[in-house]
Amino acid sequence: MKKKIVISTGAGISAESGMSTYRDAGGLWDNYPVMEVASDEGFERNPALIHQFYSNLRTKLAQTIQPNDAHRGLVELEKDFDVHVITQNVDDLHERAGSTQVLHLHGELMKVRSMRRPDRIYTLPCDQLSDKGLVTTVDTRDPYGDPVRPHIVFFGEAVPNMEPAARLASQADIFVIIGTSLVVYPAAALLQYVPHGVPIYYIDPRPAKVPSWVHVIARKATEGVPELINLLRQQQ
Ligand code: APR
Repeated sequence: MKKKIVISTGAGISAESGMSTYRDAGGLWDNYPVMEVASDEGFERNPALIHQFYSNLRTKLAQTIQPNDAHRGLVELEKDFDVHVITQNVDDLHERAGSTQVLHLHGELMKVRSMRRPDRIYTLPCDQLSDKGLVTTVDTRDPYGDPVRPHIVFFGEAVPNMEPAARLASQADIFVIIGTSLVVYPAAALLQYVPHGVPIYYIDPRPAKVPSWVHVIARKATEGVPELINLLRQQQ
């Protein structure tokens, strides 16, 4: 029976793929007013701007961004462990690298959903939509004639996958945190669901403050993940 390793990732794991993080210098929230482009009121106020913001990010992701060695390292771990990735990231780089169990807390950039029936989710590019490519607008319609919105959890909205994520954290034999500033809740609270005594590793070149028992690897993801793999294999 493989040990269950639960890995919580943030924007830092995609940084070396060329995806901007949010709060590092020059990050997304330095260049865009977060409450304009990533909040529920922002979407109410100016849906066209939000469609444009996510369409630009989506196009960049699909056309120019590739998984990096850190994403691939987590796939490598699947040989020895039952690996569950819980990501705050909306990119699909874990999936494209080959991770088989990925849970998105903040939604998925490559998906949009019906405004009338949130259970109708479309992965772009999608020939069922009135706009066939990677770009959506307020005029994009699904096959039922309904407008669509990014399948993203905006600030101010519920995080429906937090419950299954917390359950996974509570079942972990090993818990790993990679590339997150641990400032956005409830994602940052996942740590609290990890049972006492379960080893916790945190890979981040500029780690946030964490409890003393967390094993911090203060390196970038493409160096820290291989180091972690060696550590874990030695303990097998
Ligand atoms: N390797 C590993 N970590 C890195 C790297 C790297 N090469 N480069 C930067 N980091 C780390 C930073 O040190 C920081 O701790 O990644 C983290 C990025 O933090 P944020 O930009 O705050 O990203 P994240 O924690 O994922 O943000 C959480 O905030 O805006 C919301 O929904 C958005 O999911 C996002 C959430």
